[in-house]
Amino acid sequence: MCGIVGYTGDKQASPILLDGLEKLEYRGYDSAGIAVENGGKLTVSKTKGRLALLREKTENGAAVQGVTGIGHTRWATHGKPSEENSHPHVSESGRVAIVHNGIIENYMELKQMLLNRGRSFVSETDTEVAAQLIDFYYEGDILQAVAKAVREFEGNYALGILCVDEPGKLIAVRNHAPLIVGYALDGNYFASDVMALLAHTRSVTYLADEEIAVLEKTQVHYYSSFLDPIEKKVERVEWDSAAADKGGYEHFMFKEIMEQPEVIRRTVLPLIRDGRAEMEQIISKAMVANMKRLFIVACGSSYHVGIIAKYNIEKLARIPVEVVLASEFRYCDPIVDENTLVILISQSGETTDTLEALREAKERGATTLGIVNVEGSSIAKAADLVLYTKAGPEIAVATTKAYSAQLALTVLIALYLAEQRGTIDQATYDEILGALLAVPEQMGTILEQKAYIQYLAYQHFHNDDIFFIGRNVDYALSLEGSLKLKEISYIHSEAYAAGELKHGTISLVEDGTLVIAIASCRRLTEKTLSNAMEVRARGAQVLALAAESVKEEVSHVADQVMTIPDTHDVLLPSLAILPLQLFAYYVALYRGCDIDKPRNLAKSVTVE
Ligand code: AGP
Repeated sequence: MCGIVGYTGDKQASPILLDGLEKLEYRGYDSAGIAVENGGKLTVSKTKGRLALLREKTENGAAVQGVTGIGHTRWATHGKPSEENSHPHVSESGRVAIVHNGIIENYMELKQMLLNRGRSFVSETDTEVAAQLIDFYYEGDILQAVAKAVREFEGNYALGILCVDEPGKLIAVRNHAPLIVGYALDGNYFASDVMALLAHTRSVTYLADEEIAVLEKTQVHYYSSFLDPIEKKVERVEWDSAAADKGGYEHFMFKEIMEQPEVIRRTVLPLIRDGRAEMEQIISKAMVANMKRLFIVACGSSYHVGIIAKYNIEKLARIPVEVVLASEFRYCDPIVDENTLVILISQSGETTDTLEALREAKERGATTLGIVNVEGSSIAKAADLVLYTKAGPEIAVATTKAYSAQLALTVLIALYLAEQRGTIDQATYDEILGALLAVPEQMGTILEQKAYIQYLAYQHFHNDDIFFIGRNVDYALSLEGSLKLKEISYIHSEAYAAGELKHGTISLVEDGTLVIAIASCRRLTEKTLSNAMEVRARGAQVLALAAESVKEEVSHVADQVMTIPDTHDVLLPSLAILPLQLFAYYVALYRGCDIDKPRNLAKSVTVE
């Protein structure tokens, strides 16, 4: 969603801001802008649409001179995407410029107060209200004015502010929306996402809620919203800037699909010691012993991982698991207590619904465990316990490598819980762990067969409706396969538990409808095949996905078959997801879609 960058230092700010915004493009946006201060004068440049237009308008930044500035990519919430509504917003006097992520919920009330005092507005946004209120309180000290204004704001926000009367100074404020300060020899930076900082520095400070940072060329000071000075830690970011390049591939999504074998190794190996899943320091033995039930709470693909994790944890550790969409968890009066572990799965660590669900769970006394990819993210900071997926930066909006890393990590959790609860025998434990360790190599074999998946995609990319069916973990995979396809190819697609077809959905099947039947789970292959036969009898084309050992059996029923190597049941989803990702990718490619930045979608969803 929206992105913020800020810089004050020795260099020209505009090119730095534009490059920073480019690194945030993947988050999704519909307009962009910068504001730069130069000797007490402010220049603002904004455009609706792609950042390339802003580059053109500012001659790559050369037309907007000055060494202190703020920039923004906007994903419209209040008011349509337009130049007037895009950020930075400037107060009526021209003194205060501001960029803003999130929503100031009580902005109408504040706007009315300012209108009553004779201020007028040019946009429909809550952000302009913030700029005007800060200006309204300004009496020669921008820090005082910001602190006074933010104490009146209700909602979630990250703000970057500059005041032309105080050259060389930037203010950054965080409240439930990420903001990170970066330190470099040429000056100081802030950004809403570490990706915008990596080209300049890996030394950062994560702002916490209700904290304010004042940045100048050679120093940064931190305050509470009541202006008490605070000490903050400088932390080192593990990711390097090369990880955010396409590395010669046409799309980030494809690069990220190809990275999966390595991502699995990076994620699981540090957690395996002497042939055991080693998690005692994160999930204590006492906690496992007292655990009555477990919740998994997440959104989108992370939620789909949760469904597979439920099957695996219940099967191996015999602990009841409930999987709940984060947006529902908050409002379902969940029955959790101090003996409940609530696992929050999130690639970005910033998804608002998941973060709010975490807070809800904590308030009810549960212990919270975040499975997160981004270090220093809000969920990583707020959870009682954290396990990191080591997927590295994921740029494509459609998740692939983070999904796989989450999946692998949940297998290790299932093994650890099962061992602690005494519900697994040694041979099964060793077999599953061995199968997990073999996943990267087996993934490599599947990726080598990408040409066949591309051929299948070519045959089917004209379809308007594609159905995915499967049972048990194959149903969870159907949900993910279908989501991947629709988000990047814009083909209408539905996923159904195969056994549910007869209860209504089969009426949608007609001549030529493509049904992707996922039959990786061998104990259910026969059952899923009987559902595949039902749709085929009604004219559907069946494309099946099955383990190598049942290929022949499956090919009697399906028109075409994609195969994966055989493995333990628990690990099948880790392999079966790859052909589905590749299929979605190639279909989108043939349809000429904007694969890495699909329409209307944002990489991290920071509004409810
Ligand atoms: C998946 O391809 C989507 N981009 C989306 O469903 C995503 O998984 C969801 O928004 C959750 O994001 P998170 O893992 O960062 O919390």
